[in-house]
Amino acid sequence: ERIWLIVPAAGRGRRMGAERPKQYLTLAGASVMARTLARLHRAFPEARLCLCLDAEDAWFSPTMVPFADWRRVEGGAERADSVVNALDALAEEAANDDLVLVHDVARPCVHPADLARLREALVGEPVGALLASPVADTMKRADAAGRIVATEPRDGLWHALTPQGFRYGLLCRALHHARATGVAVTDEASAVEALDLAPRLVAGRRDNLKITHPEDLALAAQILAAQEA
Ligand code: C5P
Repeated sequence: ERIWLIVPAAGRGRRMGAERPKQYLTLAGASVMARTLARLHRAFPEARLCLCLDAEDAWFSPTMVPFADWRRVEGGAERADSVVNALDALAEEAANDDLVLVHDVARPCVHPADLARLREALVGEPVGALLASPVADTMKRADAAGRIVATEPRDGLWHALTPQGFRYGLLCRALHHARATGVAVTDEASAVEALDLAPRLVAGRRDNLKITHPEDLALAAQILAAQEA
């Protein structure tokens, strides 16, 4: 069976407040995008890549892509729309049973060992699986004024990370269903859950950080240095 990688990279990274989208900021001497794609390529050298880019992207360069087989598609309004565009673009080539791994371009620190464990977990897995890490902090629910409404039991709560892997046919069905029913999806698993299916969590490292705020860039550089030491 074939492996497809979908990397949504059409975000504009407004929370970073930088002069360019965060995937094009420099991390340890290369762009965040180049770092992320290099990690994916190390674990899945044979995979085919579909990269979602903003139509007005002025920073992308094909030299950031180490994959032999890759294509770009236009991003959508939300992350899920970008992923749907990628799935639609693969419709002619992908088989229903092909494995699709979706990974945020903003997660350059995903560890090769975690990618290997996720791949292992997906062998013969009909629903799908994602990297995740158990919540360590006490979780509060707040009202609009910033006052605590409830303390959520932390037991059994996880951070959903990426990659998230599903069979092509199921993921198409799930994301199109979510769009048709208006379910808000911030990751692929939530769309699959809306079909009453239960994707599997694969415990991953906590340092699979999603670069979001300005201080995350320095943190990511430290994580990469520590991982490669
Ligand atoms: O902004 P955030 O970090 O939540 O975005 C997660 C991922 O989704 C990033 O890799 C970003 O580039 C991507 N994205 C996208 N299309 C959008 C919004 C975000 O591909 N419309």
